[in-house]
Amino acid sequence: MNPVEIIRKKRNGSKLDRQEIEFFINGYLRGSVSDYQMSAFLMAVYFQKMDFEETAVLTDVMVHSGVVVDLSSIEGVKVDKHSTGGVGDKVSLILAPMVAACGVPVPMISGRGLGHTGGTLDKLESIPGFKTNLSIDDYKKNISQINLVMIGQTDEIAPADRKLYALRDVTGTVESIPLIAASIMSKKIAEGIDALVLDVKTGRGAFMQSESDAIELAKNLIQIGKIFGKKTIALLTDMNQPLGYAVGNWCEVVECIECLQGKNVPDLMEVTYALGGGMLMLAGTAQTVEEGISMCREVIKSGKAFEKFNDLVKMQEGDISYIKNPEKYPKSKFTKEIKSTSSGYIGHIDALEIGFISVMLGAGRMKVEDKIDPKAGIVLAKKIGDFVENGEILAKIFTDRGEIMDTAVNRLEKAYQIASEPPVFQPLIHGMI
Ligand code: URA
Repeated sequence: MNPVEIIRKKRNGSKLDRQEIEFFINGYLRGSVSDYQMSAFLMAVYFQKMDFEETAVLTDVMVHSGVVVDLSSIEGVKVDKHSTGGVGDKVSLILAPMVAACGVPVPMISGRGLGHTGGTLDKLESIPGFKTNLSIDDYKKNISQINLVMIGQTDEIAPADRKLYALRDVTGTVESIPLIAASIMSKKIAEGIDALVLDVKTGRGAFMQSESDAIELAKNLIQIGKIFGKKTIALLTDMNQPLGYAVGNWCEVVECIECLQGKNVPDLMEVTYALGGGMLMLAGTAQTVEEGISMCREVIKSGKAFEKFNDLVKMQEGDISYIKNPEKYPKSKFTKEIKSTSSGYIGHIDALEIGFISVMLGAGRMKVEDKIDPKAGIVLAKKIGDFVENGEILAKIFTDRGEIMDTAVNRLEKAYQIASEPPVFQPLIHGMI
């Protein structure tokens, strides 16, 4: 077999068999398939797709590129959540400690920023000292001790996803159902969970912009979960505007600290509670999603969820003083306020554009080797449906890249649309599958 033959076969729309998929993925890990050949392959899959059988095989090969962690010695139903990716989607940082504080073990393996969307790992690593690359022993130890661990793919767990994920981020090959499904499910199966709640995003800032594509992705994810014996459910949630107000790594951590301390950021907390309710139901801790939501509200109110977040930061060597006092974090060299040039209702905020602007500001990568600027980002002051006066602040930009400020301002101004009438209400949670 040779890599070019396989690329050409997929490029021409043919179905690949297990041997060919194994040859290509394992060859990439060993170095006999190069980055440029893998990029071409990913683009071929992007255009020609894979059927469900190929997607399941790809997932299986990616799972077994490393070890499948055995968590059976740890008591309880281990439950995790994964999002298909959104702008300002910081849910995991609130959700994981919240559910762990309800007594459910949460082993979570996440990814970095992908395309225009942010990643949980980059957000966690914006906390000085926070380690996301743990050995399997430490991974297990943390779950036993505090019910919670949050890491990235490692050389041992889901290494194929680790390498492919970084390449897809910078080659325009993210928005593909088989590639997303295999990426998500390979790391979730490898992490040793019993059950999984998926947050499948749909709308302008999601990888699946149309609801029908999002439903197809959700069905693929659930079906793969079934094959691997994991109880899996999916919520379909709206991603037409950023979730919450902050978009960028450290500023999102700050928003999460505030929510864990009891602040209600309505859209962010609505999604977080719904997913938490689903996780507690799958764990058997709650009979229904609604009961699970009440339990989640309780641990936010009592401060137990925030305590659990502090335990997580300490356990993974993050500097807790920044959690206690976020104000001491270094500041961006340049900031700019975007002001409204008319009065009216915010009718639309282009989440995709906001995601791309935040990458340009330094919050994401344009090349694999790029370093993230954790301070960079955008903090919105107004969201869809809010009334704004002429001259009022819409959003604030933070960056060290002074040379791109004018472009960022210009693009951000255009991302907001102001109308004379309030927009028609759109539900945030479209349904459960
Ligand atoms: N999240 C992942 O882990 N992988 C994807 O491809 C998209 C979202």
